[in-house]
Formats: sequence, C-alpha cells, structure tokens
Amino acid sequence: MKTKVLMVCLGNICRSPLAEGILKSKVDPDKVYIDSAGTGGYHIGNPPDPRSINVANKYGIDISDQICRKLRPEDLDDFDIIYAMDKSNYTNILRLSNNAHHNNKVKLLLDEIDGTEKEVPDPYYDSINGFENVFQLIDEACTAIAKKLE
Ligand code: 4NP
Repeated sequence: MKTKVLMVCLGNICRSPLAEGILKSKVDPDKVYIDSAGTGGYHIGNPPDPRSINVANKYGIDISDQICRKLRPEDLDDFDIIYAMDKSNYTNILRLSNNAHHNNKVKLLLDEIDGTEKEVPDPYYDSINGFENVFQLIDEACTAIAKKLE
C-alpha cells in the first residue's frame, strides 16, 4: 500500500502546491501518493499562484496542472501523514478532529529539518524573494522526508 502524504497551507495556491510538487519530484510514485489542500476556501478550483509556478519551473518542477481544493475532515482518515506549513495551519487542521489517532498524523513540515525556522512563511503578500525562500525551506524538508519514506 502506498503511503499517503498531504501538504496543507492556508490558500493551497502558494506553499502547499510547491510542497506537493517538490516531494513528488523526490519519491517513487508507486510507493508514495501526495496531494495538497488549503484550510481556507478562497481559491478553490484555481491553479497555483503564478509566482509558485515560476519558482518551481526554475528548478525543473511543473506544478501548473494542480487545482486548489479545501481540506476536508475525511482527509484525516484518508492520509497517513499531514504536513502543515505553519502553526496556524496546524491548529486549523487539528480543529477538524479531536481524535488522538488523527492528531498524531499532523506535523509541522519544518520539524523534519534542524533549521531555526519552524514555519514556512506565508509568501502571498511578499515579494518574489519570498517565493525563493519558501522553495528552499520546503525543498530541504522534502529531501529529509523522501529519505525517511525510502
Ligand atoms: P498559501 O498562501 O497559504 O501558501 O497558499 C496564501 C494564498 C492566499 C491567501 C493567503 C495565503 N489569501 O488570503 O487569499
């Protein structure tokens, strides 16, 4: 059975689509299924933010065919590991369930690396540099996750 990993941010148009695309580029698709979702519903049905599409392209990753969706309570049953990009996302995911089995699946993405930052900052109102920084943070965490999943 495949391990199912869900990447979660607020809008599902900037950070979690990058996390989905980056982790997909590092693992065997026959072994790991990866999806992403947002805790907010502002952009449902939209493609990722063009700034995320562009920074992914720069590193040879195509995320342009992803479609934004909102996190559902069933995701806590369906997925094995759920990564939150920041603490606010983490809290909002846990609000969907008070079941300890569900809660144990939810982790902060950057807890997978030793860096000083614990949160992938929300780049939505940031400059293009914000997206480069977000890409690098997510990329380092996904390298560690891919190694663990092997
Ligand atoms: P994301 O960024 O959570 O990384 O997708 C955001 C995208 C949109 C909004 C906020 C954050 N928004 O407020 O519309």
